[in-house]
Amino acid sequence: MKYRILGKTGIRVSEIGFGAWAIGSHWGAQNVSDSVEALDKAIDLGMNFIDTALVYGNGKSEQIISEVLKERSEKVVVATKIPPADGPWPPSPYCNVEERYSEKYIRTAVDTCRKNLDTDCIDMLQLHTWTRAWNRNPKPLDILHKLKSEGIIKHVGISTPEHDQNALIYLMKEGYLDTVQLIYNIFDQEPAAELLPVALDANVGVIVRVAFDEGILTGKYTGDHLFPKDDFRSKYFEGDRLARAVARVEAIRKDIKGSGYTMPQTALKFVLSHPAVSTVITGIRNEDQASGNIEVSDMPDMPEALIKKLRRHIWLRSFWYNGK
Ligand SMILES: NC(=O)c1ccc[n+]([C@@H]2O[C@H](COP(=O)([O-])OP(=O)(O)OC[C@H]3O[C@@H](n4cnc5c(N)ncnc54)[C@H](OP(=O)(O)O)[C@@H]3O)[C@@H](O)[C@H]2O)c1
Repeated sequence: MKYRILGKTGIRVSEIGFGAWAIGSHWGAQNVSDSVEALDKAIDLGMNFIDTALVYGNGKSEQIISEVLKERSEKVVVATKIPPADGPWPPSPYCNVEERYSEKYIRTAVDTCRKNLDTDCIDMLQLHTWTRAWNRNPKPLDILHKLKSEGIIKHVGISTPEHDQNALIYLMKEGYLDTVQLIYNIFDQEPAAELLPVALDANVGVIVRVAFDEGILTGKYTGDHLFPKDDFRSKYFEGDRLARAVARVEAIRKDIKGSGYTMPQTALKFVLSHPAVSTVITGIRNEDQASGNIEVSDMPDMPEALIKKLRRHIWLRSFWYNGK
C-alpha cells in the first residue's frame, strides 16, 4: 500500500480507503460478518482511512467500525459525517442554515457519533451535505472549528453536494476546510477543472468517493441487471439509466484492451493519477473487494497515454434529482 498526505491535516493516509456506506444500509442484504471480515482484511493490507456517516444505518456502520477497531492495534483514521436536521436533501437554496445546522443540533449529532464510535475525540468530522446558498453565512463551520478547539473533533471537512460540487471552492480558499470529500471518476471529471487544482493550492486534503460510479465502473453489471428494491441503485439506475451507463462502460473496456488493467483497476488508477487526490474511499462489502481494491495501490502508475484516452470518457450527466 502506498500512502499520501491528507492536505493540511498532515495525516499519512492509505491511497485506498474504506467507504463504509454499504456496511450500514441502503445497499440490499449485507452480512455483518462479511463487513467485519472486509474491514479486517483491509487493515491487514495497510488501509488506514475509513469513511462512514451517522446516517449509514443510523449508526450501524459507525458501530461495526468501532467494534472492529477495538480488536486492532493499528491506528486507523475514521472520518464520519453528520447530516443536516430534517429537510430537503440536497438542501434547497431556500433552507436556512441556522435551522438545518444549529449549534445545539450539531453538538447533539456529534455526541451521537462519539457514542457510536466509542471515542471522546472524532478524527475527522464532515458535514454530509451543503448548499452554495450557505457560503454567505458558513456558521456551522465556525461551530466545528470551536469543537476542534474544545478537543471534541480533530479535523473539519464537508462532503460536496453532488449537483454543485464547486460550491465548496469558496470555503476551501477561505480556509474553512481541512478536507473535502468529492465525486471524481472516469465519468465525472469536472473536478479536474477547478476543485482539484484549488485543493492543491489551498492544501486541502481530497477524499474521493464513488470512484466506481456506485459499482458500474467495475464493469461487472449488464444493462438489464435488476437491483433488489432495498438497494438504492434500483432507483438511482432506474429506467434506461443503467443501460446507458453500461454502454459507456463497454466503450471504456474497448479502450483499455491490452493495457493489462481490469475495469476496477482502471477506475482506481485513473482517479489516483491526479496529484490532488489523497485517498480513494472505495465502497467495500467483502474480503475480495478489500484485497482487489487495495492491491491497485501497488501497481505501477497509469501511463499518460492511457490517462489521455480515458479523459475522453467524461460524461457530463445532469444530476439525477429523483434517482437517489
Ligand atoms: N454524500 C456523501 O457524502 C457520499 C455519497 C456516496 C458515497 N459516499 C462515501 O463514499 C464511499 C464510496 O462510494 P460508494 O460506496 O457509494 O460507491 P463506489 O465506491 O463507487 O462503489 C462501491 C461498490 O462497488 C462494488 N465494488 C467495490 N469494489 C469492487 C471490486 N473490486 N469488484 C467488483 N465490485 C466492487 C460494491 O458493490 P456491489 O458488489 O454491490 O456492486 C461496492 O459497494 C461510500 O461507501 C461512502 O463512504 C459518501
